[in-house]
Amino acid sequence: MIEIVPLERVDPTDVEALLDAAFGADRKARTAYRMRDGVVALPALSFAALDGQQLVGTLQSWPVALESPDGRLTPMTLVGPVAVRPDIQRSGLGRTLMDALITAAGENGHDALMMIGDPEYYGRFFDFSADATTEWVVPGPVERRRLLARISRPGGVPAVGRIIPDPGFASGRIAA
Ligand SMILES: CC(C)(COP(=O)(O)OP(=O)(O)OC[C@H]1O[C@@H](n2cnc3c(N)ncnc32)[C@H](O)[C@@H]1OP(=O)(O)O)[C@@H](O)C(=O)NCCC(=O)NCCS
Repeated sequence: MIEIVPLERVDPTDVEALLDAAFGADRKARTAYRMRDGVVALPALSFAALDGQQLVGTLQSWPVALESPDGRLTPMTLVGPVAVRPDIQRSGLGRTLMDALITAAGENGHDALMMIGDPEYYGRFFDFSADATTEWVVPGPVERRRLLARISRPGGVPAVGRIIPDPGFASGRIAA
């Protein structure tokens, strides 16, 4: 029986080990990590999947901002990494974690989600797409088709800008 709990309830060392197993130990050089450099994960939008005491899946979310060319900041939520222990991948756990995230995002007013991920998965099941991101700049290499967003905010978000860690949340000054 797998239980979804707040990520805060698990040992960070176990989270790091699971992420290494899912993505490789060189994962921290990825562009997604640079986008949230210096901010802390959002507790209400970060989850662990436990099988008994065993950590078998994680999902973290981070406060970022889309900075327009005129300096205006549009708050957004960066989703990921999403990771399932390799030996139990493709048994529905990724979907369970993402369903928990979509529900919590709706309840907490996070109406502009973004991530770097496979559109074949995050588009197919969760309505993410690269349509809104074509002119976004990110701090490192990215396959444009994998730069995804899911925007339900009235009026949407700007088409042009660069993604940065949300300065209001930098260094963990504000945790939400
Ligand atoms: C990507 C990941 C989170 C998906 O979670 P999961 O529990 O393995 O997958 P689920 O059981 O929720 O979904 C299974 C379905 O999604 C499909 N799927 C899973 N990962 C996919 C991917 N990266 N691309 C396309 N389809 C994928 C499966 O083929 C399956 O489809 P089916 O039902 O038609 O057979 C998980 O596999 C993982 O941690 N992978 C390692 C990290 C990784 O490679 N991430 C790449 C995306 S960022």
